[in-house]
Amino acid sequence: MKKHNFNSGPSILPQEVLQEASAAVLNFNNTGLSILEIGHRTNWFIDVIEEAKNLVKELMQLDDTYEVLFLHGGATTQFMQIPMNLLDTDESAAYCDNGVWGSKAIKEASLFGKVNVVASSKDKNHTYIPKNFTVSPTDKYLHITSNNTVEGTQWHTFPKVNIPLVADMSSDIFSRPIDFKQFSLIYAGAQKNMGAAGVNLLVVKKDLLGKIKRPIPVIMDYQKHIDAGSLMNTPPVFAVYVAMLTLRWIKKEGGLAEMERRSIEKANLLYSTIDALPQFYCPIAKEDRSNMNAVFFMHDEHLLNLFLEECKSNGMIGVKGYRTVGGLRVSMYNALPLESVQAFCDLMKKFSEQH
Ligand SMILES: Cc1ncc(COP(=O)(O)O)c(C=O)c1O
Repeated sequence: MKKHNFNSGPSILPQEVLQEASAAVLNFNNTGLSILEIGHRTNWFIDVIEEAKNLVKELMQLDDTYEVLFLHGGATTQFMQIPMNLLDTDESAAYCDNGVWGSKAIKEASLFGKVNVVASSKDKNHTYIPKNFTVSPTDKYLHITSNNTVEGTQWHTFPKVNIPLVADMSSDIFSRPIDFKQFSLIYAGAQKNMGAAGVNLLVVKKDLLGKIKRPIPVIMDYQKHIDAGSLMNTPPVFAVYVAMLTLRWIKKEGGLAEMERRSIEKANLLYSTIDALPQFYCPIAKEDRSNMNAVFFMHDEHLLNLFLEECKSNGMIGVKGYRTVGGLRVSMYNALPLESVQAFCDLMKKFSEQH
């Protein structure tokens, strides 16, 4: 049976990326070696990581005032590594609390300095993105989560502030063309739109660094990673390779504009189907709905398990909502074909007619 992979992460990757990556596990670029066996200081790997960095800059249209790093530890490590590098103990940073991941970032940052929560959507169960808020000019930076993977909200326009803007883009990186120059630091764990799990992308404006007094452990120090070209210690070679293949695929398919066109088409189809069926509802403010992760519910809780069973027997993977949220979550990352969303919508319609 054909599987439709709606996992929130690790999630679906393009078939041709999987094919190329599997071939490279056996024989990388006709070297007679596996990608798993090559040294990270060989020209073979340096070519891979340099191509990946250049593709990131090209897709984001960023110049050399920015540096691209591939690091270990997932986005969760960045929750502490960012304040460790940017915030002194006697300083403050502004944070938006728009859900699970943002609040984890806040918790970690408060270990390193003062956190001002300048906007929160907690009052309405994180079903919207706060619009009107201000930051203090003394805050070192403003941290937002561009797409709230768990709650199903997404920033469609970004706050205009006079302090550096930092964004966790783990779940919507490379899904749309935005003015990336408005950000001073962007990070994304894997794997959602960029594989494979085990690597963390960080894009940082160079002039943001070197401004704090705290000593930073070498492995946590962005500047040291920049100096070492992301090769301070053994990087996640295979994950960086798959990241490069994913970036190549995005470029070949038409870049970020095409990724956005596809994701709007998928999201419009799904949300309009949810809104039209009386058994289902999406509580997220329409203008803040995520094009990556649709979070929605069934009015009759008892029907939910039945519907999940139907999904399972029809090859629909990963549609159960996050454990603290419940309901349903359908993730529509770049590699998910429109046909999968069509198949899911058809199933919802059929289920609605029968119940
Ligand atoms: C927006 C966001 N931030 C952070 C994380 C945590 O990422 P990691 O598991 O790479 O630490 C996730 C994971 O799904 C996420 O969606």
